[in-house]
Amino acid sequence: MAKIGHIELGDCPLIMAPMEDVTDMPFRSLCKQFGADLLITEFVSSEGLIREAEKSTNKMKFGEDERPIGIQIFGDSVESMRKAAIIAESVQPDFIDLNFGCPVKKVVVKGGGAALLNDLPKMTAMTEAVVKAVRVPVTAKTRLGWDDRNRNIMEITERLQDAGIVAISIHGRTRAQLYGGQADWTLIGKVKASAKIHIPVFGNGDITGAVVAKEMRDRYGVDGLMIGRAAVGNPWIFRECKAWLERGELIPPPSLEERVNVLRIHLERSVAYKGERRTLLEMRKFYSGYFRGIPDFKKYRTVLITLNEMGKVLELINEIAGSR
Ligand SMILES: Cc1cc2nc3c(=O)[nH]c(=O)nc-3n(C[C@H](O)[C@H](O)[C@H](O)COP(=O)(O)O)c2cc1C
Repeated sequence: MAKIGHIELGDCPLIMAPMEDVTDMPFRSLCKQFGADLLITEFVSSEGLIREAEKSTNKMKFGEDERPIGIQIFGDSVESMRKAAIIAESVQPDFIDLNFGCPVKKVVVKGGGAALLNDLPKMTAMTEAVVKAVRVPVTAKTRLGWDDRNRNIMEITERLQDAGIVAISIHGRTRAQLYGGQADWTLIGKVKASAKIHIPVFGNGDITGAVVAKEMRDRYGVDGLMIGRAAVGNPWIFRECKAWLERGELIPPPSLEERVNVLRIHLERSVAYKGERRTLLEMRKFYSGYFRGIPDFKKYRTVLITLNEMGKVLELINEIAGSR
């Protein structure tokens, strides 16, 4: 039974990976509905929270139906992360997750996210400060190391565990790899198998479907599976993984009708949550996922991503659904 503090998550929970501009409240709640056991917000800037920037504060919003949910924070200074954790705790998430893996330049040049992989004393001090400052459990999400010559995830995990985190999510790539190549789970498996590590280890990277999910769990013995890109426009992946992991059942993908219905709900909730303009922009990432495998979808997508009125988007979606 995997646990985060006192939160019981069952055997091999499925975790929705935090993704900026993707895992906002409307999409997270759909993933939850289709079987994600654990949700985490998009990363939230510690400096933004301290400045009370609306964009950062809004990213902490979640619905009661999303529990258990963690707020993920990132930053480059021990003090700002400590303060941000206290602010995040005030909105009563179930846990706080520390981002030690973001490879994006604008974050790394300032010393945040994956840059902390190069400064373990600071990463440790930051973690200790946050753990001390809040009552909710603290987790961390990170990568194998900075680059191929520094794949020090074993040491990182030991130090973070000593600093008080209660679970770790490991993306099987280095910072230098960004999102290229294939995720390497062998080190994730070694961390899990280490006698020194007693916190839950969640594996992440390139889980593309139910069969791969089970293979990773069986081969590397991880306590949970974190799924990111393969869930974009495909919240059903959680349902499919659950059926295969728990009942040995390979269930068919959703029908076109179900996909279109859920896409409509997603659009409606997004407009209510962040307005039509942002929805139209940010939903572009989702269409390919929602219509995966549908022949000729490319030609529709080209049009979908240029439309700037929700009414037109809905019309075209109906047309795609009706033309099958
Ligand atoms: C668009 C996008 C945004 C992301 N934003 C975050 C983030 O805010 N916090 C974080 O810890 N990881 C972030 N990630 C990394 C994912 O959580 C995950 O570790 C990575 O995509 C690998 O998992 P996957 O192969 O299942 O996608 C992001 C990834 C993508 C593609």
